[in-house]
Amino acid sequence: MPFSLIELETVDSTSSFLKREADKLDGFVFVSALEQTKGKGRENRKWESQKGDGLYFSLLIKDKNILSLGSKLSLASSIFLSDFLAKELGIEGVAIKWPNDVYVNGKKIAGILLEGNLPDCLIIGMGINLNQESFLGEYRVPPTSIFLESQKKWDVNGFSKVFFPYFHSRLSKINEGKIKEGYARYDFLKGKKVALQNQGKEVEGYYQGIDDGCNIIIDGKSYPSGEVSSLSPIK
Ligand code: BTN
Repeated sequence: MPFSLIELETVDSTSSFLKREADKLDGFVFVSALEQTKGKGRENRKWESQKGDGLYFSLLIKDKNILSLGSKLSLASSIFLSDFLAKELGIEGVAIKWPNDVYVNGKKIAGILLEGNLPDCLIIGMGINLNQESFLGEYRVPPTSIFLESQKKWDVNGFSKVFFPYFHSRLSKINEGKIKEGYARYDFLKGKKVALQNQGKEVEGYYQGIDDGCNIIIDGKSYPSGEVSSLSPIK
């Protein structure tokens, strides 16, 4: 099924927009905005969304076959973006920090937020840092941008014109059996000692990869969600 696109100038959040409109829409619908006034990150954090700095978009999915993959779509989305950055743009040092943060050389270049109402619909929200030359303020993880990593500035709509068809095409051909293998290409936490904040508790231990359900494995135990950080020095 082809995708449709709604391009907005300013919105509170592209994901909130799609939540409000989801009942009226069908198929694959991308919504992008040049700026967001209430860009949302994971764990109730804010996502800086100034005009011209980044691509801010959300994708509504109602296709039952794709939705049957459930939370694995989170990891799959980060693999598609990582492949785009590494293989299409030639950026080196791309990595995924579980569950779906995309890093370049140890710095965060993009964030992904999944919301929705499985098994009926899912909204994948993605923010990609494109043109920032520097970052002001405090960040949990040091950020970077495509400009800082490749010295190339992007017109935001020009970027979405190439990225949306790529992302949609990868999603349409998604192969559940290849998600773990795709993730292994980019695994940022491999070989690291980690701390996981999970439901108010902290677990520390050695990261051992992900299981078939894409849950993180630490010291032999699987965890489906949480905020993980590396306790090993970045090499
Ligand atoms: C994260 O915390 O890493 C996830 C960030 C997700 C940000 C994107 S920007 C487009 C979409 N709309 C939002 O309000 N959030 C997501």
